[in-house]
Amino acid sequence: MAELLDGKRIADEILGEVRSELLATEAAGRRPPGLAVVLVGGDPASLVYVGLKVKKCAEIGFHSERYDMPESTTTEELLELIARLNAKHEIDGILVQLPLPKHIPEQRILDAIRPEKDIDGFHPINVGLLYLGQESHALTPCTPTGVIELLERSSVPIEGASAVVIGRSAIVGKPMASLLINRSATVTVCHSRTVDLPGVCRNADILVAAIGKPAFVTDAFIKPGATVVDVGINAVTDPSFVRTVFGEDEKRLAAIEKRGQTIVGDVHPRLAEPVAGRLTPVPGGVGPLTIAMLMKNTYKAYRLAL
Ligand code: GUN
Repeated sequence: MAELLDGKRIADEILGEVRSELLATEAAGRRPPGLAVVLVGGDPASLVYVGLKVKKCAEIGFHSERYDMPESTTTEELLELIARLNAKHEIDGILVQLPLPKHIPEQRILDAIRPEKDIDGFHPINVGLLYLGQESHALTPCTPTGVIELLERSSVPIEGASAVVIGRSAIVGKPMASLLINRSATVTVCHSRTVDLPGVCRNADILVAAIGKPAFVTDAFIKPGATVVDVGINAVTDPSFVRTVFGEDEKRLAAIEKRGQTIVGDVHPRLAEPVAGRLTPVPGGVGPLTIAMLMKNTYKAYRLAL
């Protein structure tokens, strides 16, 4: 049976480290790091994520500013806000929650954030620095960087390992591949057109699933003993799907009844657990690490700005 990797514990460890560094800068009389979180429109999942991010800032002692803008916001209005935040001394990090409404061109907005304040690591300068292997002065995307922390702090060997990433998004798949290459893994990136996906995945010592399909990765994808990292956060509303994957999981079924949904990862845990060596649970795996890395990136931006 796979060992479950405790993302919450590792996230708390990272937050504790950021907190103790922060205490030292506070003692030196410096202002706290500041994060601005921008949400356009009312996407329910985004509302939850933005709420969690702002709450974590308060917990850890960061200054935070939240900007809720209506769905009808124009590109120019959003660019104007970003220009103000770019110039604002107390703000070290700017996060524009994605996805944006369809009428706003996402990349134009991301390009407008000063690279030094781009704590999401989505600006082309930071993407380029990561690609070039110059991570020390880059800001790198929170979720895949959190996966690296999880692997390293769980003593999973990366150097020389065969790593397969399922998914080629700019938020997870592509930066994940760069981070793994920079640590000398042999990396394959798979996607919807990959021929014999299970066969390719079965070569992986480290398998990272970031495709957004609930319980898609089964035992047929997993090399015995492999480390399987589940990045998926899929809202499942159908109780019969839950029963097929988890059996009579009362907690999940009750969640659908109460909140209309339960969160399921990209990995089928019941089929993966007997084969994998290590596995991240959903929830409680990669999720808490993403927020911890956002705090760590904001702190890094603050330090680089000093
Ligand atoms: N939407 C989903 N993931 C992310 C993320 O990491 N950053 C931002 N800004 N939006 C997201």
